[in-house]
Amino acid sequence: MDIESVRGMLTTRRIGHPLIYLASVGSTMDVVRDMASDGGPEGLVVVADEQTAGRGRFGRTWIAPAGVNLSPSILVRPSVAVMKRLGIVAPLAVADAVRAVSGLDVSFKWPNDVRIGERKLCGVLIEGGFSGDRPTHAIVGIGLNVNLDAARYPEIADIATSIARELGRLVSREQTLAELLNAFERYYDAPDAESLRLAWRERLDTLGQDIAVTFGGRTEYGVAEDVDSDGALLLRRGDGSLTTIPAGEVTLRPPGTST
Ligand code: BTN
Repeated sequence: MDIESVRGMLTTRRIGHPLIYLASVGSTMDVVRDMASDGGPEGLVVVADEQTAGRGRFGRTWIAPAGVNLSPSILVRPSVAVMKRLGIVAPLAVADAVRAVSGLDVSFKWPNDVRIGERKLCGVLIEGGFSGDRPTHAIVGIGLNVNLDAARYPEIADIATSIARELGRLVSREQTLAELLNAFERYYDAPDAESLRLAWRERLDTLGQDIAVTFGGRTEYGVAEDVDSDGALLLRRGDGSLTTIPAGEVTLRPPGTST
């Protein structure tokens, strides 16, 4: 990847300063975590051409072979209020970047997957850092399938897509990364949480669906009714009660299943 050309396209003040490029790494999350504990500045981004031990939510493996995807991890040191909306900021930034480089429209699956149709285009992993109980920073890892040929990887062939697959041609990873970081800063700095929530909600396919949500070792069933300003899901249970779920894994319930 031509990282100098990415730097030349950045319009940000903090995000991507510095922008560190590594040819191959286990996970960019771990590199940023170490830099964060050494006092790394807000906005620091580590991006790798290849991750050999990329990880997703719930300890899953994240496939990021050399030369095809984007795997940046971004260090932020926000207020508690802004910390809560990182899960909205990242997918919105991805949506803007994808549209800018391809014209494609994406949708979101709660809590922060980015999809085209039924296939996953991008996943977001957010890990917090604490000093005692006090949050000190967060690392936002974004795995975006840019030119990946998912068909080559049986474990994701049926569920993943990439910008190139949807578009029918390769796209510039450099331009995509610059657009992504520029958009991330715009949303991160947005003063109005409600406008972010509404923009995210508009593309959130999960709403209105009959779902099962697994979180904290248990599963809740119901209809995804709405999301609050922190991105938590409001789930209407079968008995009419409403419960708030901060984050979890959603599966659609097949017609005819009951709780
Ligand atoms: C998910 O959908 O489960 C989240 C996937 C997050 C993948 C990104 S790629 C950059 C960063 N480094 C990692 O090891 N994981 C995140």
